[in-house]
Formats: sequence, structure tokens, C-alpha cells
Amino acid sequence: MANLIAPDVRRQPVSVTRKMSASLPGLRKLAQDKGLKIHHLGAGYPHPEVSDPREFLDAQQAYLEQMTANEGLNDPLALPEHTREEFAYGDTLGPMRTRQIFSRIYGRDWQTRMKPELLVPTVGATGGISLVCSIFENSGTPLAYITDAPTYAGFMARAGLCQHAAIYSVEMDDEGPRPEVFKNQIRAAREAGRFVPFYYTIPDGHNPAGFSFSAHRREAILNIARDEGILIVEDAPYLYINFAEQADRVMPFLSLDPAQTVHLFTGSKIGFPGPRVAFLYSEAELEIAEGATATLAELALVQSSADILFHNPAAFRGFEALLHERKCADEPFTERNSLWSVAEGKLEVYRENRAIMLRGFDKELGAHKDLFHWTVPAAGFFSVFTFLGGGVRTDDDFIQAMVADYGLVVIPMYDFYPPDARVRNPVAGYDQLRISFCFSESTGEQRRKDLTEAIDVFCNAVKQIAGISGN
Ligand SMILES: Cc1ncc(COP(=O)(O)O)c(C=O)c1O
Repeated sequence: MANLIAPDVRRQPVSVTRKMSASLPGLRKLAQDKGLKIHHLGAGYPHPEVSDPREFLDAQQAYLEQMTANEGLNDPLALPEHTREEFAYGDTLGPMRTRQIFSRIYGRDWQTRMKPELLVPTVGATGGISLVCSIFENSGTPLAYITDAPTYAGFMARAGLCQHAAIYSVEMDDEGPRPEVFKNQIRAAREAGRFVPFYYTIPDGHNPAGFSFSAHRREAILNIARDEGILIVEDAPYLYINFAEQADRVMPFLSLDPAQTVHLFTGSKIGFPGPRVAFLYSEAELEIAEGATATLAELALVQSSADILFHNPAAFRGFEALLHERKCADEPFTERNSLWSVAEGKLEVYRENRAIMLRGFDKELGAHKDLFHWTVPAAGFFSVFTFLGGGVRTDDDFIQAMVADYGLVVIPMYDFYPPDARVRNPVAGYDQLRISFCFSESTGEQRRKDLTEAIDVFCNAVKQIAGISGN
């Protein structure tokens, strides 16, 4: 038999979330055989209550009919131009009109004037991560990616595909990455002969760290990135899944300095994940060969043309429909002023779930703050729960026992720490869990009941584990 695997192809480790979903059916059965109900505090998926597409599909259809009417065709059998475009090869940048509308609305929401010609479509934020990595990887130069410890598993998986890229990670405190460590890691990577193109992070609703960076820390990190000449890749899926009051919302790196930032917008959480509509946006200019310069958007476009060539124009048209609203079915669609009105439809559920989780933790564990800590997320889907007392190791066996003994599905944190962070601290994350409050199978009142029960079962379990049961 031919050996199809090249000898130097590195084996990708299987992520803990994948291992978890593979072992879940068996564990679920074990728990159910004991009469235990399964409680979901692990999955990072949009809630079914806010991801039913039927209303959206009706609005999309009506929006397309309005587009047809606006074309003013005399012949009722003529093919509308927008339909022809949706089914033809298009521009690698996607339809100009969608990008123009999106840049106006998003720019208004985040107080920056965006240039639609610098918006590069990507296949989800996942595709954005891959695109920005590919821009720098193709030359073959040894690279270092700076990121947080812990960081997003999808970023680690993508970075791990490149054999000449290494991750240099930065520990965080409760305001964000530690500035001194950030600077030192950039310098250490350069001393090791690596080119440092960017720092990848999720400043709002960090997945998995369960908090948002303070405004002050963003400034400090941005100043270092400017001084050191590296870009900040800002992955922003939870920017609108935001629980702060309007006046307290912290601006993303995109608003602070679009020339130092590569911002990744995705429609997955504010809209729907299936259509994979997302954009990379950057006003950065880079030096390329022989002193010439190019915008990062141009480089991304060249890379994207080779990888994807044409995005799905119908998906963009659907996204364009989401950027419009109408007061009632008889009224025409008009461009939205803001995406916050779309977010509000989702936030109702996430806000309520977050409050149920935090209220439950406070009520059941508030008297034991010496033993337990949990982050209070200003955005996103997650809180990180830490056992402070020592003696608890949240490894795979612990996670399996949580399902088998209590019916609780939670995610361990250790796997989100990049390899270099685990060398510095071999027990990094082994006292932590990622608790997600975004997903349950039930909706409405049953959702509230199920989550309340899940948090109750969780609190009782951790009290038992910490040896304070019944207190
Ligand atoms: C930090 C982060 N980046 C990217 C993604 C994936 O985004 P998309 O669905 O747009 O690929 C997620 C989704 O869970 C995420 O949490």
C-alpha cells in the first residue's frame, strides 16, 4: 500500500472540545442510566431560541422582491439583475453594495469611518484567522504569533498547521494581557530569529477567558504594538453580544487605530453561522519587497483570490437584508441606523441566561469566595470558573466524572493554554472550567428552568468536590 502521509506532516492534537463531543454520547448514556438529567454548560453555540431563521428568511424574500421592484423592469418575465448576480461568478470582494451599507452601519456603531474597498470577505471569522495567517506564512520565514494564555482553540488549531510558526503566549490578569510579558514575548521571539507579524486576541467576550479587556489595557497594548511594529488581529464575534450599558461600552482596537488593527467581523453570532458571512477589515500598510508598500487588504485579497476566488453572492444578499428594517409588512425596507437593534433580539436571551448563572453563583457560592472564583463576562458566551483551594485537578477524568456523576457537561481550560504557557506553568488551567451560558436544548420558560437547575446542580457539585457540601 502506498504511504500517503509525508514523513514531515505534523500530527495535529485533537482538541479537548472534539474529544468531549466524541465521548459525550457514551457519558450521556452512563448519566441517564443513573437517572441523571444532562445539563449543558459546555457548548459555545448560539441559542436555538435566537437562531431560528424563518422570520429572517421571510424578510430576505421581501427584501429581494423590493430589489426587483426597484429595478423597474417592464417585462414581468425578465431576469432581475440582482438574481443574475446572485447566481453568477462575482467579485472576490463580494457585492460592493453590501460592503458599502455594512461599512456605514458598522462604522457608525464603532465610531470609525470605514472604507468599503478595504473590507475583504472571509468564510466566517475562522476563514479570517486562516487568511491573515496565510498572508505571512507563504514566504516560509520563521514566524512567531503572539497570543493570550489561554487563547481561542480555533486560532491554535490554525497556527499549528504551519510548521515554521510558533506561538509565543502572554499571561493575562483581569484587565487583559500583561503589558510587560507582551513586550518581552515579542522581543524573545525576535531574538529567536522569528518574524512577528501580529498579536491575535479576542478583546470583547474573550473565548475562553470569559472577560473583556479594560479600555486602559487596550491603550497600553496598542502603544506597545505600535512601538514594536506589529499588528493586532482583533477577533470580534461577541462585540454585539455585549452586556455593558451603552455609555460603558469599551471601543474595540478597530476604533482606536484601524491602521494597526486587522479586525475580524462575523455574522455568526449577530446573524446566523450557516451562511458564513464575515469580513476582514484593516487600514494597515505593510512594507513588502524592495521598500515597496501594500495595504494588508490588498495582500488579503491576493491570498483570498487564490484560496476562494468567489464568495457566495446570495449569502451576501441575505446579509444585506439583515442590514435593513421596515416598520410593518406594507412599508418599504430602509437601511438600519445601527446593528444594535439586531443584537437586541439575541441579547434578550443571553442577558437573561447570564443573569441566571451569576445569580446562582452568588447565591450558592458567594459565601465561599476563598474557594471559588468566576469571571463576570461583559460580553460573549462564557465565564471561567476557578477552584482556588488547591487539590482539584480539572483534567479529562474530572470532566468525565462531572458528566457521569452529576450529568454536567463543562469544558476544561487546560487545553486552551498554548504549549509555551504550559512549559512555563505545567498546571496552567488545571484548576479552571469554561462555563457557557449560551446554549440549552429548551426554549422560553423551560430554558430558564433548565439553566437555573443546571447552575444549581453545578454549585452543589463544586461544593461537594471542595468538601463543603451542606454548608
Ligand atoms: C473567538 C472566536 N473566533 C471565531 C469563532 C468562529 O467564528 P465563525 O463562526 O465566524 O467562523 C468563534 C466561535 O465560536 C469564536 O469564539
